[in-house]
Amino acid sequence: MEKVALITGGSRGIGLAITNTFRDKGYTVFAPTRAEMNLSDDDSIADYCKALGTIDVIVNNAGINTIATLENLQSAVFQEMIQINLIAPVKIIQCLKNKMSKTGVGRIVNISSIWSFVSKEGRSGYAATKSSVNSITRTLALELAPNILVNAVAPGFVNTELTKQNNSATEIAKIASELPLKRLAEPEEIANLVYFLASEQNTFITGQTILIDGGYTCK
Ligand SMILES: NC(=O)c1ccc[n+]([C@@H]2O[C@H](COP(=O)([O-])OP(=O)(O)OC[C@H]3O[C@@H](n4cnc5c(N)ncnc54)[C@H](OP(=O)(O)O)[C@@H]3O)[C@@H](O)[C@H]2O)c1
Repeated sequence: MEKVALITGGSRGIGLAITNTFRDKGYTVFAPTRAEMNLSDDDSIADYCKALGTIDVIVNNAGINTIATLENLQSAVFQEMIQINLIAPVKIIQCLKNKMSKTGVGRIVNISSIWSFVSKEGRSGYAATKSSVNSITRTLALELAPNILVNAVAPGFVNTELTKQNNSATEIAKIASELPLKRLAEPEEIANLVYFLASEQNTFITGQTILIDGGYTCK
């Protein structure tokens, strides 16, 4: 039977690569636009998820990263990051867990970040949300075992709009030169890891956050 995946934030960047990878592998993919499921709005999340049928895979990919040092971190900005990066994935899982396959092949992959392991100035709000994603991944792996495996993927610097928005071209060139692998990841490389964790090839990994960062956090 054709498998079904829900992928958030599929319009561009890493989410688009994940969407394309699952479609190439024969999955039916639901990748709602913001107009179809606005992650800022719990009612919109509930309405969209209730209308879905059986789901085999959820990839909570959508995320926002507003950089602000402590003195500039406004509550509304912090709360929006908590809502999109943390609360929305939990709401989606709450709504869909009973629709996920009960045959032992349900898979959830949450997209985290290197900034949940290491930090950088201006990332306190974002890093807090992504660390919490890792934590929730562990707890839900326990709560949803044994039928659903829950993991997180923590990318380093990826060649996306988000990276270009938060770093100048000069900064990106410097970052690449300092990475052990001397380049940023391409979104497809992240998508391949997500696909593995969500596939039947993954039979025993659950509750883990897998770094994919070209060696950045080894230094
Ligand atoms: N890029 C990196 O280097 C990097 C590194 C580590 C982790 N990550 C994580 O990887 C994930 C994807 O990053 P990316 O760089 O591909 O991001 P991106 O290019 O900025 O895309 C973000 C996606 O999230 C969607 N989105 C944002 N707010 C939304 C909302 N309120 N409702 C519905 N959808 C919303 C966007 O939809 P619209 O098209 O409607 O805006 C877009 O599809 C994020 O969780 C990010 O934190 C990225």
